[in-house]
Amino acid sequence: MDSSQNTDDPARDAEEAAPSQSRQAFGVQLPRPGDPALRSLRGQNVPHYQGHRPWNASWLLISYLEQIHLEGLRIVDVGCGWGLASIYCAHQGAQVTATDIDPQVFPYVSMLSTLNGVEMDHVTASFDELPTELVAAADLLIGADICFRVGMVADLYDLIQSGRAAGLGSVAISDPGRIPYRDLSARCVADLGAQEGPWQTVEPLLDWPGERPTVTGRLLRLGGT
Ligand SMILES: C[S@@+](CC[C@H](N)C(=O)[O-])C[C@H]1O[C@@H](n2cnc3c(N)ncnc32)[C@H](O)[C@@H]1O
Repeated sequence: MDSSQNTDDPARDAEEAAPSQSRQAFGVQLPRPGDPALRSLRGQNVPHYQGHRPWNASWLLISYLEQIHLEGLRIVDVGCGWGLASIYCAHQGAQVTATDIDPQVFPYVSMLSTLNGVEMDHVTASFDELPTELVAAADLLIGADICFRVGMVADLYDLIQSGRAAGLGSVAISDPGRIPYRDLSARCVADLGAQEGPWQTVEPLLDWPGERPTVTGRLLRLGGT
């Protein structure tokens, strides 16, 4: 179909407009590394806080979110990076706000949102600067691989603790198992009644001739979702 002949279904338009070199995981379309538009974007935007690529913890988080009915939920993704989890949630019908300390990640979020035919809000803010009303109104706060420095533990604990006290529904954070994450999760289990444990999923992207490798890590959950 000619791109000027869009239907009234943005998801279908995006699917038909998707470049042949895109690939998909959990229903999320991603450009291949050699995609010209992605290469151009990389030349113009260089994220500075590890948001320069999607991380495997996103697959762990999405594989958990697959179990939840997300349609209509208000979701805040903290440390969103390229926003794969945000895009998955928006694709499922959630109202998503993607947040990150680094404004340089949002052109990637926009590119992937367009590719997937979804819309979402975004906010540039560090964990300790997120608007209280945004967090308090959320049904679910999510994050993938967001606790990788010792200094992040206190900010994330305060965000979760104060958010829950103000009305935040649930929390789900995935991680490869880094030491700062383990400190955060231990505090959340001990003081907030969170659940924490191993999580794994099949690597969804690789064109693999045999059995696909497994992505392993940890998952922190708090609240009913
Ligand atoms: C390892 S990346 C993970 C990105 C994404 N969640 C994923 O799984 O692909 C960590 C992300 O956290 C963001 N970040 C780092 N420090 C932050 C802070 N203090 N507040 C908010 N976001 C932060 C980075 O900019 C980056 O996008």
